[in-house]
Amino acid sequence: MTKSNLLEVNNLSIHFPTISGRVEAVAGLSFHLKKGETLGVVGASGSGKSVTCLSIMGLLPKKAKVISGEIAFYKKDGTKLNLLAASSTELQSLRGKEMAMVFQEPMNSLNPVFRCGGQIMEAILLHEKTDKKCAKDKTLQWLARVQLDDPERAFRAFPHQLSGGQRQRVMIAMALACNPSLLIADEPTSALDVTVQRSILNLLKNLRNDW
Ligand SMILES: Nc1ncnc2c1ncn2[C@@H]1O[C@H](COP(=O)(O)OP(=O)(O)OP(=O)(O)O)[C@@H](O)[C@H]1O
Ligand SMILES: [Mg+2]
Repeated sequence: MTKSNLLEVNNLSIHFPTISGRVEAVAGLSFHLKKGETLGVVGASGSGKSVTCLSIMGLLPKKAKVISGEIAFYKKDGTKLNLLAASSTELQSLRGKEMAMVFQEPMNSLNPVFRCGGQIMEAILLHEKTDKKCAKDKTLQWLARVQLDDPERAFRAFPHQLSGGQRQRVMIAMALACNPSLLIADEPTSALDVTVQRSILNLLKNLRNDW
């Protein structure tokens, strides 16, 4: 049986007006992604990979101009949504539950003043009708699933008390905690050393196989 599409990007072009002229960040990009499929995007620095990711998540900077294109996303209930035309409320309700992103530098996406566990619990409580006890159990399960040696410690830790690789594992746990059907990872390992890079990529591969 052929799997159905999860994401369809068609003829996407995005520009940035700058004082030195217009920057063409993405030019006529099209690709389709099926459910369960992994797509790797390769390109030189500045070729528009991050801008593409942000446009899917609805997180483009205000000054970005979408010149053309459509980004169709198929929700878990089967409905199709053009992400570029979706309201900010709609996009907010999709983020976490239907799609999630792991950024290059986890220190920028984790809030430094809150403990890691609480941040994951918050994401779960936002999207799922569940109580704090269940959200905590689920958080600890996820921290174990991303192979943090001591999930209880990671739960209680502030982001700066963890290593870069551990923080990225926390981010992956947070991204997957609400079972999104789309996970976008924008160079999730480039801030890490080579051996940690390999273990994080293996982790993502294994998690995908279990999905
Ligand atoms: N906020 C912005 N304002 C102006 N130009 C921007 C902005 N964000 C991105 N750009 C430009 O858009 C283009 C694509 O940037 P993008 O960050 O998507 O590249 P990338 O492929 O992710 O590169 P890297 O591999 O270095 O992460 C670049 O020319 C960049 O300068
Ligand atoms: Mg980038």
